[in-house]
Amino acid sequence: MSELLDGENVLARTAAQNTDLISGVYEGGLKVWECTYDLLEHLEAEGEAFSGKRVLDLGCGAGLLGILALRRGAREVHFQDYNSTVIERLTLPNVLLNCEDDDDDSGDDDDGGAGGGDEEGEKDGCPPPKRKATGPPRDSKLARCRFFSGSWTTFLTQVLKNDPPPKYDLIMTSETIYNTDYYPALHEVFHRLLDQGGLVYLATKAHYFGVGGGLYLFQNFVEEKDIFKMKRVKNVEHGLQRHVVAMSFKKP
Ligand SMILES: C[S@@+](CC[C@H](N)C(=O)[O-])C[C@H]1O[C@@H](n2cnc3c(N)ncnc32)[C@H](O)[C@@H]1O
Repeated sequence: MSELLDGENVLARTAAQNTDLISGVYEGGLKVWECTYDLLEHLEAEGEAFSGKRVLDLGCGAGLLGILALRRGAREVHFQDYNSTVIERLTLPNVLLNCEDDDDDSGDDDDGGAGGGDEEGEKDGCPPPKRKATGPPRDSKLARCRFFSGSWTTFLTQVLKNDPPPKYDLIMTSETIYNTDYYPALHEVFHRLLDQGGLVYLATKAHYFGVGGGLYLFQNFVEEKDIFKMKRVKNVEHGLQRHVVAMSFKKP
């Protein structure tokens, strides 16, 4: 294993401690947590439109939410995870694997996109044009992605240095409200980086046993701040209660 790709040594540490989470060291991004599937199902069921949108997959882990957005024609997708090991060993390879089959188009899986024009096939015994070489790099899905590692405070500081800073149409985040200590930083990311007309999709368990956070505590926090309204858009009642919540600015 390359040390370069696990400079944080989280692979060895999580294996040694047989744990899903080491607070402040490793925040759980190496496995896919179940609320991600709830949110994916919701996005499918609602036919969420990604085309042309700027999307942030916050606390991305394997990056499934961002990958869906990318494949559905999002203009730009930013992936953020606490751990650089997760970004380098999991998120980035996963994005590459999920884009390589069609990385020379310019857009959507499902609504046609704006690309194409490369469907001539073999004519008059001539081979078709080389697909990779013909598409300008700006059309590739990977060129529409950026990857960030570090805490939410670090991430916010970093992106706010851009002129202008990004404003996301959609912020998607799954299983990220288990620790109440992180709520101020998380809320600040939503507040500073969500476009005025944008939407946050938050997928979460009702309660995180042994860690302390959960939807009710986060909801109280958000209500006290009085900046966002929250609406439950999906409830899963079997097993541990889980929810998908949509958040938008109170004053658009
Ligand atoms: C439990 S994992 C969930 C991973 C993924 N979203 C999923 O559902 O499979 C929580 C994720 O939130 C991110 N995270 C949690 N607290 C964070 C913090 N204070 N700063 C930055 N990222 C944080 C980590 O990157 C971690 O991958």
